[in-house]
Amino acid sequence: MAGASTPTRYSFNAQIYHWLTVILVVGAWTLGIVGDDLPRGPIRHYGETIHVACGEAVLFLLVLRLALRVVPPAPVAEAYPHSLAIYAAKIVHLSLYALLFAVPAAGILTLFYGGEPLAIFGMHDIPSPWLKNRELKHYALEIHELFANLLLFLAGLHAVAALIHHYVLKDSALKRMLPETWIKD
Ligand code: HEM
Ligand code: HEM
Repeated sequence: MAGASTPTRYSFNAQIYHWLTVILVVGAWTLGIVGDDLPRGPIRHYGETIHVACGEAVLFLLVLRLALRVVPPAPVAEAYPHSLAIYAAKIVHLSLYALLFAVPAAGILTLFYGGEPLAIFGMHDIPSPWLKNRELKHYALEIHELFANLLLFLAGLHAVAALIHHYVLKDSALKRMLPETWIKD
């Protein structure tokens, strides 16, 4: 089941990768947005630790996906109504991958330019290689926030497109990313 994608469906690994990434990205973004409203002290500290851990997990999964190729190539895109839509989907997918890297990277730079350590899954601290630099920290945080919002916006468009495929065009685009036991071809 974990093997190659079939012509009509993403592999089990690709589906697990996709949906885990969705949960982690939405979790990290929500904690990033509400983080400043959490009461100061241990609750805010846990919020920040979980925020960073979700972001690290996104990066870790991306490395597994791209470098170790634990996720086989996508199935052939037979479901699209027009070749322009195939290019549009490809550009969106590539942009999503680029942002899945850029958002955590800018988050790590925010910590390091602030002179703060990066806690690996809340357990092991990697100290900042630089002294605190307020200005660079500010820029890194602005970029982190901008890219995070762009990631959520693009993912939202992408999700709407998937739902239009399923409910309006009634093709197999969404089914391709869901287990066969849930939803038959
Ligand atoms: C290793 C990964 C990550 C690190 C180290 C990191 C680090 C940070 C830091 C230090 C802040 C500033 C908190 C503060 O002092 O206010 C922050 C804010 C934020 N992060 Fe992350 N982050 C990571 C991943 C992510 C991911 C994956 C997302 C969402 C897709 C995300 C979304 C946000 C948002 C929306 C904010 C709020 C920005 C603001 O309003 O100031 N982060 N992050
Ligand atoms: C943070 C949210 C999301 C991210 C980062 C994301 C990212 C991605 C990426 C990078 C791909 C391309 C996979 C590949 O070919 O290698 C993909 C495919 C797909 N995603 Fe998402 N996605 C998100 C949310 C969603 C949601 C909410 C839905 C459904 C409502 C969805 C449905 C799909 C479907 C159906 C495909 C397969 C499209 C096709 O090959 O024709 N995604 N997603």
